[in-house]
Amino acid sequence: MIKQTAEKLIELNMDDIKKSLKNGRIFVCAIGTGRIGLPTALSFAHSGLPTIGVDVNSKLVQMINSGDFPLKDEPGFDKMFDEVIKNKNFHATTNIEEAVPHSDVILLSLPTPMSKDHIPDYSALISVGKNLNKLLKPGSLVVVESTVQPGFIENEFVSVIETGTRKLKVGKDFGMAVCPEIANPGEIWKDFKNLPRLVGALDKRTADIVAEIYRYVFGVEIVLMPDCKSANAAKLTSNVFRDINIAFVNELAILFEKLGIDILKVLEACDKKYNFQIHYPGAGVGGPCLPVNSYQILNSVRNLDNNMLKIIKAARKINEKMPCHVVDLLLDALNEAGKKVKGSTVVILGLSYKPNVRDIQLTPAEEIIKKLENLQAKIKIYDPYFKSVKVFSHNTESNLMDAITNADAILLITAHNEFHDLSPTLLASKMTTPIIVDSGGLLDAVAAKKAGLIFRGIGRGGI
Ligand SMILES: NC(=O)c1ccc[n+]([C@@H]2O[C@H](COP(=O)([O-])OP(=O)(O)OC[C@H]3O[C@@H](n4cnc5c(N)ncnc54)[C@H](O)[C@@H]3O)[C@@H](O)[C@H]2O)c1
Repeated sequence: MIKQTAEKLIELNMDDIKKSLKNGRIFVCAIGTGRIGLPTALSFAHSGLPTIGVDVNSKLVQMINSGDFPLKDEPGFDKMFDEVIKNKNFHATTNIEEAVPHSDVILLSLPTPMSKDHIPDYSALISVGKNLNKLLKPGSLVVVESTVQPGFIENEFVSVIETGTRKLKVGKDFGMAVCPEIANPGEIWKDFKNLPRLVGALDKRTADIVAEIYRYVFGVEIVLMPDCKSANAAKLTSNVFRDINIAFVNELAILFEKLGIDILKVLEACDKKYNFQIHYPGAGVGGPCLPVNSYQILNSVRNLDNNMLKIIKAARKINEKMPCHVVDLLLDALNEAGKKVKGSTVVILGLSYKPNVRDIQLTPAEEIIKKLENLQAKIKIYDPYFKSVKVFSHNTESNLMDAITNADAILLITAHNEFHDLSPTLLASKMTTPIIVDSGGLLDAVAAKKAGLIFRGIGRGGI
């Protein structure tokens, strides 16, 4: 049994911190063991630091403790998971009281979604923060990995931990830092090995300790930010940059359809220039990050000047209209085929908000399905990550070929690998009405037309 440091972590000098890291005497508690929290907890445990995961999802905790790796779409972590479960350096619990009082580092990878009217929801963080007031070991470190708007830590979260049954003082009783996670779902293994970590804290000493710990665990560059709000601003800026640029190409895509220009050819040409960064049009921008992050930054101007950040508001509007545009392309193609949407069999290929992950949070597919229901189309759904299950009140198909046989139209929503080699000739031979709307830029439009398909694609004019 490894002996835990009796000292307060935030009071140790750097040499002692280095020694404690090497000897595995810094105990870690990772609260939230989902897409981000579990790979993070595994990385800490694998570096030799005893780690406990805490999650309210008892099924997930049970799965973890029985040695069944839950994140099948995050390649790389399964072996690490087996190792740390086997050597007992990691286990999970639903009981926060079992984990926090014995831990020196508390990592928070809790969800930060938004309400239907786009107000950020930090309730999971607040609820855990209240527990931390009761449970924190003196001198421990709290690191928020969740994405929050700049100022949330300083103006709200710290006082949640400081006030309660115990009166705590940040910097004295506990250290407060952020390391906003910037890894991409589906690519977390690669990103953890390569991307720098942004670390911000409420005081320089805490920042240095967190930097040392993260350097030890991940072995990557640490970017020390001046404070928590700057680190959170950096995380949001990089994602909002993408939301805005995707909106830009989505808007161009709609124009290019009218002008008879294929946007893929245009983007390919632009990408030849060194200072162009390619973004692709699509059926919408979903997931737990990009759309939410834009609203988080918008929320941070709510009390300042609501006229600021017009470009982000415009980008959101454009991206939120894209599911509608996909349905318009379908209606146009059906019109060409002389068919009505009502009663036509429309097959949705791909539910996930991005290729090759099992995640339907804020996916544009949901909006498209709702619109098709209103138009009384017969809907069939196939997604390799959601076979034979009920999603958005529909039973999904188990087999791609069965799904498309006798279809009147295919809406290709998510560019999963399984859809990359779809043969236009095969599609045309299986379908009753050979319509395809390609929102992932997967099909060769010329080949599709040659095969007899009625082809539509986002931004695919002139073909
Ligand atoms: N998913 C991504 O690609 C990604 C990338 C970068 C950053 N982030 C950010 O990381 C944070 C976590 O996102 P995620 O994708 O891992 O979410 P997730 O939903 O996959 O995981 C969150 C976990 O927290 C658990 N949880 C919820 N409330 C809890 C509570 N009160 N106590 C203990 N556990 C609780 C949930 O059961 C879940 O397992 C968010 O702020 C998100 O914006 C996500």
